[in-house]
Amino acid sequence: MSEKTAQMKQEFLSKLENVADMASLDALRVEYLGKNGLITGLLKEMKNLSVEEKKTFGQEVNILKNEATDAITTKIEEMKKAEIEKEINSMPDIDITAPANLDRGSYHPITLVQRECEEIFRSMGFHIEDYSEIVTDYECFEALNIPKHHPARDMQDTYYLENGQLLKSHTSAAQNAIYKKYKDALINDGVPIKAIFPGRCFRNEATDANHENTFFQMEGVMVDKNISISNLIFFMKTMLSEVFKKDVKVRLRPGFFPFVEPGFELDINCLICGGEGCPSCKHSGWLELCPCGMIHPEVLRAGGIDPEEYTGFAFGLGLTRLVMMRYGVKDIRDLNSGSLKTLSQFTDDK
Ligand code: DAH
Repeated sequence: MSEKTAQMKQEFLSKLENVADMASLDALRVEYLGKNGLITGLLKEMKNLSVEEKKTFGQEVNILKNEATDAITTKIEEMKKAEIEKEINSMPDIDITAPANLDRGSYHPITLVQRECEEIFRSMGFHIEDYSEIVTDYECFEALNIPKHHPARDMQDTYYLENGQLLKSHTSAAQNAIYKKYKDALINDGVPIKAIFPGRCFRNEATDANHENTFFQMEGVMVDKNISISNLIFFMKTMLSEVFKKDVKVRLRPGFFPFVEPGFELDINCLICGGEGCPSCKHSGWLELCPCGMIHPEVLRAGGIDPEEYTGFAFGLGLTRLVMMRYGVKDIRDLNSGSLKTLSQFTDDK
């Protein structure tokens, strides 16, 4: 290396060593490597050299240029690292491996039980459907064989919007849409309709320990050729034994709902009082948990399905009630209280 380049390298490196911040580093870069920089300037001195000398000197200058560029890059990295270390060292002493403060609420027990039920039905081949909370009168009543002025409407007074739509009073309001969605696959490809649709329901109720104006149900339907009450009972039993993880006493008794024929009330033994009678079970020892039945031919027809060819069952599981049984909640109003302290008792699943 010629004396000149060697000397420039020395100078550059010692200046680089003394650089203290990014701004002076950049100034140094411009001083040596910029368009009018010192290293670039060396090349201009080549014009008086012979061809042979030009070649070796050119190479030398290029090597110097590369070395200087690399040294600057390394210096930038070192400086960044030093900056981060400085920041870390200036932090107060904290143990970042200590568990975070977990006091941030928990899943609502209804969410937990709903997800559990969804998993059970998913494993049995059911679709999980979501449905709007605002529905039409047709969906909520007419398509379910409850014409205007039918007395069955009295049991489900709800909240009406000015445009004539209403807050759904039961998840059955989604049935018609589900039939229409899946009927082509059923009719053309023989795929049975198997769907559940959990959702929030509303009723204009006087509230007490067992009644709320807002509650959750989970509707389920299955439609295919030759579906019978045995299929219904099988799915209900499977679901309940999975949810309660033990054998629960159930009873099936006739029930009237205009959209099923025959219709049933599936009751479970009250798990709060063990069947002895308490306010939660209206002192009967039994709780209506899952009304169900064989889908009425008119309801299938309204969904575009020929009742001569297909039959099906439907059920309307009282999800809120199931949660109350599962966690021993005595007053339904606790579930809508929004109190984190109350809700966090039901789960340790944060
Ligand atoms: N929708 C009814 C209610 O909320 C419950 C119900 C009864 C749903 C029978 C069904 C059924 O699917 O088959 O009162």
